[in-house]
Order: sequence, then structure tokens, then C-alpha cells
Amino acid sequence: MDQPKTSLSYDELLARMQQIHWFHSIALRPGLTTFGPKTELILAHEEQALLGCLDLHGRTVLDIGAWNGHFSFAAKRRGAARVLATDSYTWTHPHFKGQESFELARAELGLEIDTQLIDPTEITGDLGLFDVVLFLGVFYHLFDPIDVIQRLRSVTGQVLMIETHQDALEKTRPGMVFYPGTTLGGDATNWWGPNPPLMLSLLKQIGFARVMYREYPGEVMYRGLYAAFTPEADPAIAAGFGVEWRDLEAPGVLDSLVVAA
Ligand SMILES: C[S@@+](CC[C@H](N)C(=O)[O-])C[C@H]1O[C@@H](n2cnc3c(N)ncnc32)[C@H](O)[C@@H]1O
Repeated sequence: MDQPKTSLSYDELLARMQQIHWFHSIALRPGLTTFGPKTELILAHEEQALLGCLDLHGRTVLDIGAWNGHFSFAAKRRGAARVLATDSYTWTHPHFKGQESFELARAELGLEIDTQLIDPTEITGDLGLFDVVLFLGVFYHLFDPIDVIQRLRSVTGQVLMIETHQDALEKTRPGMVFYPGTTLGGDATNWWGPNPPLMLSLLKQIGFARVMYREYPGEVMYRGLYAAFTPEADPAIAAGFGVEWRDLEAPGVLDSLVVAA
């Protein structure tokens, strides 16, 4: 780990960390790791699955719903030329204090990352075009994810990486399950569980040329990872996609993902 980049003493940093509700466990200094339920091990596995397949050197990356910032920091450390981290819900939430948490971690790690306070529902092409767009753990929180996915198409230069809760896995037809109120996990911000046929048809319908899928890197059936490539994507950007990733339009792939009811 690098030398601390802020002038905070150990006790001052610990006190600041304790004032924040963390989601990511991020090692800020030896002996000082933030207290998120997403452990360093879980994050390492997700990071390897989502970013290990991409050559980020010199690329531009947009992280939507960055929260404490683990994936923004990881993209920068993996060589991205520019990273823009965005969020709104947790960043402005008085309990989560997400923007404060992001800034504390970013400053302590000494990483140059741009930020913008913007909700996914307000993203337009004015944000610019990014080689890689990260949309991790956000899809199912949106009441209208279809509108947002269309918005994301306008900022994706090459590949949109999606990590999401899923449902209707026993169906072969495109479908999403709606969760009224707090019926998914007791969380009133959870709305939808799509299945892989839905994600394939939706992403193709709005202009992505190819959609790859891989299972979540752990014993979690109801999560899935998607990589949606634009028609302009540089083939080199997909060179690192291993056998875990399957083209959803290849013969038999969608059928192989159907689980017994
Ligand atoms: C489960 S966290 C995912 C954080 C990070 N991307 C990851 O994968 O670890 C969900 C993120 O979605 C954002 N978000 C965007 N719109 C939201 C909404 N309407 N309700 C709840 N969260 C929302 C939150 O601010 C939060 O950063």
C-alpha cells in the first residue's frame, strides 16, 4: 500500500471513517479498512470478473452509482486514462453520506478521479462518450431501467458493463419481475429483476451489437454480469474475455441459462 496521501492522523482518519455508513470495504492504510458489507474478498472477485477481462490502459471509464468508489479506484489503478465517478442517491443521502465517503477514500488513496453529482435518470449524451461504462448494482434500483439503459447507450463508446440482480430465470421468454413496495429484500428502492433473454433483447433493441454474459463470481444464482458492445467497439477491448463469458446469441446459450422452476 502507498504512503497516506492526506495529512490526517490515524485517529483522525478512523474518526472520519466511523461517521460514515460504508458499503465497500476499502483498505485506506495498513490497519485501516472501511467497514462495508461488501468485503475486500467479494470486491476482489467482482473486480476481477468485471474489469479483469478489459484492457483499461488509456481508456476512459464512467462509473454510474459509484457509492464509496471501489470500482472507480480499481479502474484508475488498472490504467484508465480518465475515470468519471457519478452518483446521487447515496451521495446525497444524510445517513449514507456517500459523496463524503467517496472523497475521503479518493483523497486518502491519492487517485485522480473526476466526480459528478448526477442521477442515472438524468444522464444524457452531454456527459460525453466513454470507452467503458460501469453500471454495477444499479439496474434493479431504478423504477424505469429501460429509459436509463437508453440514456447509457448515448454515453457508451465501446462497452457497457452491467451487474444486476435477476429473476424469472425459469422463463425462456424475455421478462422482468416487478417488486412492489419492499417485497425484494425489504428494500423500497428495489424494483425489477430481469432475466438474460430480457437483457439480450433490450440491449440489442437500443443499439448494442453484441451481448456477453457470465455468471456472478460466487455461489449467487440471482445475480448476473453483462457486457454490451457497441457496433464501433475495438475488437481488442474484448480480447480478454475468457470462457466464463458467453455470447448470448450463440446457439444454445440462452437455453443453458434457464433454471428449473
Ligand atoms: C448496490 S449499490 C452499488 C454500488 C457499486 N456500484 C457496486 O456495485 O458496489 C447501488 C447504487 O445505485 C445508486 N442508485 C442510483 N439510483 C438509485 C435509486 N433510485 N435508488 C437506490 N440507489 C440508487 C446508489 O446511490 C448506489 O450507489
